[in-house]
Amino acid sequence: MSWCYLRPDPLLIVTDKPGHGTCLSAAAQRIADCRILVTAQPWSLSSPVLGVIADVDLKQSQARACLDWLGEQLGPKRPPILFLTDSTASAALREARAYGATACLPRYTEARAVVASLFRMIHPSETVTDVIVRRGASRTSDLFEDMFKTAPAGTVDLAAVEDAVDPVLSAIEEGGLARWLDVVWEHDDSTFQHCLLVAGLTVAFSQSLGLSRVDQRLMARAALVHDIGKAQIPLAILNKPGKLDADEMAVMRTHPALGYDLLKASGKCDPATLAVARHHHEMLDGSGYPDGLSSDAIADPVRLLTICDIYAALIERRSYKAPFSSEDAMRILGGMGGKLESALVDAFGKTLLSPRGKSIRAVA
Ligand SMILES: [Fe+2]
Ligand SMILES: [Fe+2]
Repeated sequence: MSWCYLRPDPLLIVTDKPGHGTCLSAAAQRIADCRILVTAQPWSLSSPVLGVIADVDLKQSQARACLDWLGEQLGPKRPPILFLTDSTASAALREARAYGATACLPRYTEARAVVASLFRMIHPSETVTDVIVRRGASRTSDLFEDMFKTAPAGTVDLAAVEDAVDPVLSAIEEGGLARWLDVVWEHDDSTFQHCLLVAGLTVAFSQSLGLSRVDQRLMARAALVHDIGKAQIPLAILNKPGKLDADEMAVMRTHPALGYDLLKASGKCDPATLAVARHHHEMLDGSGYPDGLSSDAIADPVRLLTICDIYAALIERRSYKAPFSSEDAMRILGGMGGKLESALVDAFGKTLLSPRGKSIRAVA
């Protein structure tokens, strides 16, 4: 069965205060594509609307005209419309209902709570967390599909990679690692499944280490593309239903350098992402590849990702091996001695044992 999620229809924010509209939009983007319609600018609708947040002052004629126009565009089967009002007096609520309000909230309501209320009106049987996790996985999966289509010809769309970063961060932040994995295990392509898994583990590890938001974004970006070089490995080797022989393994081991070259050729790629793509199979004792780097030559982002990458490979099912349990995978990581930074391995183990990670399970 192929793995795909329907992308939610857009949410529409109608506002006469672009600053507040942007705030609402940032919260709404976590669950659906979102458009802002500013009452003082030309109005247009180009696609179906799932729900509307009306953040306008109904005393203003321009706001009323915009809502009249919107009502005509949406027609009789209009989606839920949530009004933000300055007053909760019955006259104000009656006026909002006259302009199509399904429900009203005070304007000071926090943006995430506004979006969650609208979401409950649209999907009463789903939780916001479920949608955020699914949206993150869907965005990421779409990205991998596009990357693996274009990378064999030598390009990666770095802007598309950037678009997938926040959905992954939100999904892990909101749902935790275990929820992410439940979604990841549904994916039927082992390479994409691995990349999704490493992205989730890396973000969860970065969050549990207390890295800044900027560094979390950096790690998510690096994780998303760490194996992009595999897009240039022949499929007969990449998807071989069995263990690779020595020649095939030599070809497979070219993927870090291929990924590095690909990212370098694709425009402005940050140094940490380039380092992760090239060095994520290097070991601190110098036994890794492709450059045989050791100790201080291996940067912190690479060390962090390498641990997530090895753990992911261990708990995944492969045609030639059963998946290891999380506990056995951690025992193997802990037994790798000088190849990995032991303090970082311990910290990774704590990430898995944290309240939001401890129900983690290997693939069924
Ligand atoms: Fe790799
Ligand atoms: Fe990997």
